[in-house]
Amino acid sequence: MSVRLLTLGAALLCSSNVMAATDAYTYANFDAVTVKHLHLDLAVNFEQKALTGFADLQLNWLNRTDNTVYLDTRDLLIERIYAKRADGQWQKVPFTLAKRDAVLGSKLTVSPAFQAQTLRIYYSSTDKASGLQWLTPEQTAGKTTPFMFSQNQAIHARSWIPIQDTPAVRMTYSARIPSRDDVLAIMSANNEPGMIRDGDYQFVMPQAIPAYLIAIAAGDLQFKAMSEQTGIYAEPYILNASAEEFASTQAMIDATEQLYGDYRWGRYDLLILPPSFPFGGMENPVLSFITPTVVAGDGSLVNLIAHELAHSWSGNLVTNASWRDLWLNEGFTSYVENRIMEQVFGVDRAVMEQALSVQGLKDELTELPANDSILHIDLQGRDPDDAFSGVPYTKGQLFLMFLEQKFGRDKFDPFVRQYFDEHAFQSIDTERFIKFLTANLLQKYPGVVSLDEAKNWIYQPGLPATAPDPQSDAFNQVQQHASSWLNGNSELSSLPTDSWTVHEWLYFINNLPLSITLEQLAKLDSTFNLTLSSNSEIAHAWYLLALNTGYQDIAAPLEQYLVNIGRRKLIIPLYKQLASTPEGLAFARAVYEKARPGYHPLAQGTVDEILK
Ligand code: BES
Ligand code: ZN
Repeated sequence: MSVRLLTLGAALLCSSNVMAATDAYTYANFDAVTVKHLHLDLAVNFEQKALTGFADLQLNWLNRTDNTVYLDTRDLLIERIYAKRADGQWQKVPFTLAKRDAVLGSKLTVSPAFQAQTLRIYYSSTDKASGLQWLTPEQTAGKTTPFMFSQNQAIHARSWIPIQDTPAVRMTYSARIPSRDDVLAIMSANNEPGMIRDGDYQFVMPQAIPAYLIAIAAGDLQFKAMSEQTGIYAEPYILNASAEEFASTQAMIDATEQLYGDYRWGRYDLLILPPSFPFGGMENPVLSFITPTVVAGDGSLVNLIAHELAHSWSGNLVTNASWRDLWLNEGFTSYVENRIMEQVFGVDRAVMEQALSVQGLKDELTELPANDSILHIDLQGRDPDDAFSGVPYTKGQLFLMFLEQKFGRDKFDPFVRQYFDEHAFQSIDTERFIKFLTANLLQKYPGVVSLDEAKNWIYQPGLPATAPDPQSDAFNQVQQHASSWLNGNSELSSLPTDSWTVHEWLYFINNLPLSITLEQLAKLDSTFNLTLSSNSEIAHAWYLLALNTGYQDIAAPLEQYLVNIGRRKLIIPLYKQLASTPEGLAFARAVYEKARPGYHPLAQGTVDEILK
């Protein structure tokens, strides 16, 4: 009897979409009430750079006593609010908008005298919205049509939706989006390949997702199918190139399903954004948002697609309950990404990608405060954007690789699959993960990895001495050839660069010593045309090296690069390096004056800070 009651209790707990977790980045009282369905009716107004209309929030009350709903907002104009009573009647209700907190925004308090079934909030976003970018026609490739897109993670949903902006709360959503009829609007929802461009768009997302995965984009978008299940949305200039670049997407889905079970979201499409998109990719469900800087012409950077796809399991299906637990999203995803790459492109490439990530992490660790190298990070009230690093990604990945190597894939793969199955459509925190890990791996196969060892990985700074250290044969050869040339024992022409992949080039450039002479740099550049590389990652690595060593001949192309690209990972290190010398800083400020209007608010914020 008691066992049955317990099971029933557990089932009830899971069927409500709330977790007993805490989240320091929301004002929402989600222990009392949760949004279970959101309906948006928002017009896209390109002239005013605003989304205007209303949001219906269907509520699920978790007790009988509370009536008050606290919501997250930032820089919204709230016009009026209605509450629906149990008898179906709507009633206008008072609300208060608290003073704006720099990190959290403004708490919206709505307190009817009854438990509202639904709140209808009439509002408008403003041109300050941190989660939206509005591009004029001139700022797009086609020059004829404006473009807008959202980027909600981590806490920017609140800048265009009054909502419980915490990953601990999941909701389904629907939307009606009227717009100019020369733009196509799409969302992280059921976009139909044949959608007619008529300026009135409707969407449904039937799976419960957190607010950070709600996404919208509108512009001169065309669709091209890659397979039955997958396709590309992009501005016409890059549509065909993207479809070719990412032709392996279906194979990636198939590989992931084999490893970790069904893809549970229906279609999987990619939206290729303008180059100002501040990230490499964003895993908006059904529709990953992708930077055009990975359309390299040779498929060399498609691990980004593997990454965003992997989030369909780690992140979107099983979600970090708070931003302190980001490593559960990004560490698992980096691990799964690499497994996909191994399956689709072979183990050599997968190991090269591991080695590049690990080298990047080790470089980062030399500069990060110790506390920021803890997987279960203490954000200490900082904006989660400001505490962003490779730690949740690569240290998280290394932890999982460590477990994989200790237990063997025959035990570890089913464990990961069970983790996805048992927590599907739930949000979970680090503590709950540790319980699951203990019961289903550590104690199930005792004597392999102790709980203390696992906790060290999660709660201690830095990398444990037992961390895997991926070794790539290909990279070791690159290293030998490079040393031989640098020491004057061989000619540049004897480097076997014809057979080098982008990964080998990156390893080569990243590992050239700072003692390299300007003459040697010039020789490299004239032989391999590195300053003008069309591969965004190679160009980035080369510019960094040039700035580090004082190689001068890059100014004009570097300026071009910084003006054209707004992806933070590619521009921030360059601005930082430039800002470390007076001449560099002057150059950076001059370039930034031209670049800033084209950057996303998030990138503007970061670069403002560096150059101020
Ligand atoms: N979800 C992240 C992007 C993100 C993380 C946005 C945290 C805001 C806060 C996305 O999946 C991601 O990790 N993108 C990487 C991809 C790379 C690791 C392959 C990026 O943008 O570079
Ligand atoms: Zn990610």
